[in-house]
Formats: sequence, structure tokens, C-alpha cells
Amino acid sequence: AQLGLADRYGRVATDLRVSLTDRCNLRCTYCMPEEGLDWLGKPELLTDDEVVRLVSVAVTRLGVHEIRFTGGEPLLRRGLVGIVGRTAELAPRPEISLTTNGIGLARQAQALKDAGLDRVNVSLDTVNADTFKQLTRRDRLKDVIAGLEAAQDAGLTPVKVNAVLMRGVNDTEAPQLLEFCLAHGYELRFIEQMPLDAQHGWHRETMVTADDILGMLTDRFHLTPDDASKRGSAPAESFLVDGGPQTVGIIASVTRPFCGDCDRVRLTADGQIRDCLFARTESDLRSPLRAGADDAELADRWRRVMLRKLPGHGINDPSFLQPARPMSAIGG
Ligand code: GTP
Ligand code: 5AD
Ligand code: SF4
Repeated sequence: AQLGLADRYGRVATDLRVSLTDRCNLRCTYCMPEEGLDWLGKPELLTDDEVVRLVSVAVTRLGVHEIRFTGGEPLLRRGLVGIVGRTAELAPRPEISLTTNGIGLARQAQALKDAGLDRVNVSLDTVNADTFKQLTRRDRLKDVIAGLEAAQDAGLTPVKVNAVLMRGVNDTEAPQLLEFCLAHGYELRFIEQMPLDAQHGWHRETMVTADDILGMLTDRFHLTPDDASKRGSAPAESFLVDGGPQTVGIIASVTRPFCGDCDRVRLTADGQIRDCLFARTESDLRSPLRAGADDAELADRWRRVMLRKLPGHGINDPSFLQPARPMSAIGG
């Protein structure tokens, strides 16, 4: 059998998350400052060919069967449709998904579907234009809503919505966001804020927890555990809303960590492997790739890297240190 991406704790990574750019056209306050960040330069970024080459090594030699493209904002990557198309031609064909803020999705949804994209997860923290503007520092709510509709129409389903709640900003709008998603048939998941922002503004005391979220939702909705959905390695815990069939999810990375079931590995836009969202060290695949390494050598290196993966993210340890790279440069 093929040797996969196993770590020392019995986990095997079969889900590769590929960041295609560290840039973004929003400025969510929990993510980055108004002025943006020090973006990667063109020579540092993997080319489209290099991205496809590494994805192909993962799929054909390392047992990876799910590919998720992320950013920053992956729709800003010019070659996205082509990269998706070439990924869909790999054998065995991986499942291909995209995590996006939805801006520009209305224009690209059908082309992405035609290229082989299976589904999208769209970040949307509020359905109020004023709150959206305050939270993202941009007045683009309408574009995101149009993007969601286009994704649904193109069959990029199930369309999932990711929401981060910030105390005093959008936390009281949680039920309204759920109403919106139920009405449109989008699968909503609330995400606990994690210490991954560029400004280091995360505080355990102010973060909105899974318990807080469930408390707010159960004032308005009847939630029951969704026993039918086998959680497996999925980060979201799922609940039936008012008896179902629609569900709402909670991704409680901080208060209910799920690292023991992790099946993920990440590739940054500049060709570094991260064995965890919170990894403190990265492994360079770009240098060997550019130095002419063959697929077998790249695969070997990748396998060895996984042996360094730690059992958990350590957010709740007193000695926790945030990784140097912010979320926007890792991909969620
Ligand atoms: P599907 O469930 O397959 O649709 O995807 P997903 O939920 O894994 O992907 P998505 O990119 O939508 O991620 C949603 C949120 O889950 C992101 O904000 C991440 O913060 C969080 N997340 C994804 N993968 C991990 C992980 O490995 N560890 C932790 N702690 N959080 C993760
Ligand atoms: N903690 C949790 N989620 C975050 N996201 C961005 N920054 C953070 C953070 N610090 C979310 C985005 C998007 C998903 C990919 O990650 O809102 O929905
Ligand atoms: Fe961009 Fe995502 Fe950060 Fe928002 S959370 S600024 S969409 S990278």
C-alpha cells in the first residue's frame, strides 16, 4: 500500500489545504490591520505549475484525497480556475473545495464549477450592512450575498457559511445570521476566534465560546445533536435546528479541541508545509522543488516532515505562543 502522511500519534493527513495568496480585499478586524500586511513577493509565491505539481505529489503519492484552496482570498489568484481544472484531472480525483470571503464569487462560480470545483465555504459574519462595514472595514456585504447565491445556483453545494463572533460587534446577531442561512439553505458554522491574528488581539476573556453561542441560539431555536452526521475528523460539531433537516455547526477549536482526530496538512502560498495551523516550524518544499527534486524525493521529504507534528495546538497551555505567520497567510 501507498505510504501516507502519518504522524507519530497515529493520525494520517488526507486533507491538504493550499493557500494561493496571502492577500485579501477585506480587512476583518480580527484578522489584519487596515493597512494590510507585508505581502509575499512574486518570486516567493509558487507559480501555478508549482502549485499543481505539489498537489499532484500529495494526491498521487501520499494518499491525500481532499484539496481545499484558501488564502488570504483565493479568488484574487489569477490562475485559480486553471489550478482547479488541473487538480480535477488528477487520478484518483480528489474532492476539491474553496474557502473564500465570497467577493467576486458571483463572477467566477460557474467557471469554477465547470473546472471541477465541488463546493465552497464562504465567510460571512453578519447580514447587516453597517456591522459588515465595521467588521471588515469594507462596504461589500452585497457582493458576498451575490456570491453565495451564485455558488448555490452553480451547484457548488452544500454551500457552507463560516462566522466568527466578536463580543460587542456581531455576537447578538447570531440568531439573525442563522435565520438567513436557513432561509437560503446554507449550512452555517460558528467558529471560535483563535489566537492567529496579525495584531495579537485575541483574549481568552473576551472570546465568544461555543457555550456562549449555543446559549444564544437556544433562546430562539431548538437544537439537538445531529447524530446522523458522523463527525470523524470534521472540525464542526453539528446540531439539528428545530428537528432538522437543516443544521448549524460549531467549530470550537479553543474550548473543545479536536486535534486528536486531525487529518490536515497545509501548504502556504510560498511553498512551506505546515503540519498544523499552529505549527511553530515550517518545512520548505519550494527549494527542493526549484532545485529539481523529483516527485519521489518531494514525497519523501513531505512524509518526514509529518513526524514533527505535535499532538495538539497548545492554545490552552500556559506556555502557548502564537505562530509567527498570521491566519491570513496560512489559510484557515
Ligand atoms: P469542511 O468541513 O470540509 O467544509 O471544511 P472546514 O470546516 O475544515 O474548512 P474551512 O476552511 O471552512 O474552515 C472553517 C474553520 O475551521 C476555519 O476558520 C478554521 O479556523 C477552522 N479549521 C479548519 N481546519 C482546522 C484545523 O486543522 N484546526 C483548527 N483548530 N481549526 C481548523
Ligand atoms: N479565528 C478563527 N477563525 C478565523 N478566521 C479568520 N481569522 C480567524 C481567527 N483568528 C476565519 C475566517 C474564515 C475562516 C477561513 O477563518 O472568518 O471564515
Ligand atoms: Fe481576509 Fe479572511 Fe482575513 Fe477576512 S478573515 S481579512 S476575509 S483573510
